[in-house]
This record gives sequence, structure tokens and C-alpha cells, in this order.
Amino acid sequence: MTVTYDKYYQKENLFGEPNPELIEFFAEYPNKGKLLDLGCGQGRDAIPLARLGYSVTGIDNSKVGIEQMNQIGQVENLNLVGQVDDIYTFDRFDEFDIILLDSMFHFAKKEKEKEIGLIKKIIGFKKRKFNSFLYSRYGR
Ligand SMILES: C[S@@+](CC[C@H](N)C(=O)[O-])C[C@H]1O[C@@H](n2cnc3c(N)ncnc32)[C@H](O)[C@@H]1O
Repeated sequence: MTVTYDKYYQKENLFGEPNPELIEFFAEYPNKGKLLDLGCGQGRDAIPLARLGYSVTGIDNSKVGIEQMNQIGQVENLNLVGQVDDIYTFDRFDEFDIILLDSMFHFAKKEKEKEIGLIKKIIGFKKRKFNSFLYSRYGR
């Protein structure tokens, strides 16, 4: 199945550099555990976070983005696994310490319910695991 971003990701590194504050935050965070990047795209965040020592799993429904990210992960021998999947049906949240959603939610009227549903689902899982948190950022 082809998705919209498969076409956009023909341009390598479409979104450019990661947000410096995001990288600074995770560089200083002491527990470099298992991090799930929901909607990881081409790995703009997932790749530098794996370089920082996190064990990163990235989920995206763009096969093109996932393949580009996995290739870099393999070349650099990073602890980084990219999987083509739908973030709205994914449910293995309890395997992770940190869940990252970067530039994923837009809260447009037609998507609002679905996006809030996902946050509620994640928080439900996280309540059962106290040493974990959800980091969500809106916009580039
Ligand atoms: C604006 S981009 C953000 C990419 C990345 N988080 C970043 O900040 O560079 C949105 C991403 O979400 C992915 N996406 C959108 N809906 C999705 C879904 N239902 N399941 C998985 N990925 C999805 C798109 O393929 C795209 O890579």
C-alpha cells in the first residue's frame, strides 16, 4: 500500500534537522531506555536519539521513510528498528519507557477524536508503568 508520505519522502531528509531543544532534552535525560517514536518518518529524531544511546523503535506507515531510516541504522550499526505499521492500531506501548510523538497531531476537526483517542490509549498503558513518560511535540 502506498501512503501520502511515500511520495514526499522521495526527497531525502525532508524535514531537515531535528529540533535542537528536543535533542538537548534527550541528551540530558539520564535514563537512556527503550524509546518508541510514533510516526518516525525518515528518522529525523529516531536516528540522533539512537546515536545518543537510546534503544529506538520507530513506527510509520510510510515504507519509503522506514527503509531510508533502517538503512542509516544498519550502516551506523545503531540500536534502531523501524517498522511499517499504523500508529492507531499499534498497541505494544507497555514495552517502552518513552513514547515520542513529534509533529504528529494537528487536531483538525476531522482527526481530533482519533488523535485524542490515541493519547488516551497511551496514557492508559503508561499509568501501569511509572518510570515511563510520553513526550509530544506539535509542529516542526
Ligand atoms: C509531519 S510527519 C512527522 C515525521 C517525524 N515525526 C518528524 O518529526 O520528522 C508525519 C508522519 O506521520 C506518518 N503517519 C501519518 N499517519 C500515520 C499512521 N496512521 N500510522 C503511522 N504513521 C503515520 C507519516 O507517514 C509521516 O511520516
